[in-house]
Amino acid sequence: MQTTTAQPTAPTATSTKEALMEVIDLHKSYLSGGRPLEILKGVSLHIYRGESIALTGASGSGKSTLLSLLAGLDRVTQGQILLRGDAMQAWDEDRLARWRREEVGFVFQDFRLVKSFTALENVSLPLEILGWDGQKARQRAEELLEHLSILPRAHHFPHQLSGGEQQRVAIARAYAHRPLLIFADEPTGNLDPETSQQVLDSLLNINDEEQTTLIMVTHDMSVAQRMKRHIPLRAGRLEEDIRSAKDEGAKA
Ligand SMILES: Nc1ncnc2c1ncn2[C@@H]1O[C@H](COP(=O)(O)OP(=O)(O)OP(=O)(O)O)[C@@H](O)[C@H]1O
Ligand SMILES: [Mg+2]
Repeated sequence: MQTTTAQPTAPTATSTKEALMEVIDLHKSYLSGGRPLEILKGVSLHIYRGESIALTGASGSGKSTLLSLLAGLDRVTQGQILLRGDAMQAWDEDRLARWRREEVGFVFQDFRLVKSFTALENVSLPLEILGWDGQKARQRAEELLEHLSILPRAHHFPHQLSGGEQQRVAIARAYAHRPLLIFADEPTGNLDPETSQQVLDSLLNINDEEQTTLIMVTHDMSVAQRMKRHIPLRAGRLEEDIRSAKDEGAKA
């Protein structure tokens, strides 16, 4: 593994296409005891449509911080994030909220399903809130639950589902509104190794099917190796991409 920083991503065949997201020399500091503590120290990255990227790194290295900046949940200290050339730091809170609501999907380690909704409602009701017609929302939810092999559990509440099943519902919810990007923070972190691989199979499968772009934080190297790109984060900087064999064709 090379330890040189790849900033920005080295030119590849894919870089002739316009990047979906361009991260340029991103810095993020938090105040700690009145002094700034620099977590991200110049992260640069190009993200292309349809990619699946694993972000790894030690606990506290800033993986979740980077994800929340990309997702527009937090503001950068310095540097830029361009979404198809549009600088996100210029967006006001309403625009950021619209981005998160309409163009982004989230999958969390702890599933975060609404306990009082059934599996189906957890997927369909957010669509109705976005203005979808009730029947169309239900159809879309059923289609995704079927795809994720949990349609027979559609009327179960979260406490009546296993961890792996709950995460599949959360995945269905994340993809339901056909977002541009999916951010997944340790989506298999609460699952046993076998369930982990099964849930990952479902996630990668649906990501291919829906032609979405997936950025996933994981501690699990067997999970990271299944993604098209794997980028370790170390000491606030990204190391060089490790591309999977199936993405070798994109290499220069
Ligand atoms: N809101 C905040 N205020 C102050 N410090 C913060 C804040 N959020 C994160 N940090 C600090 O930033 C560092 C990076 O945190 P982050 O959650 O991004 O790490 P991580 O790589 O996701 O770790 P883990 O693998 O444990 O989830 C940590 O040292 C954390 O304490
Ligand atoms: Mg984290």
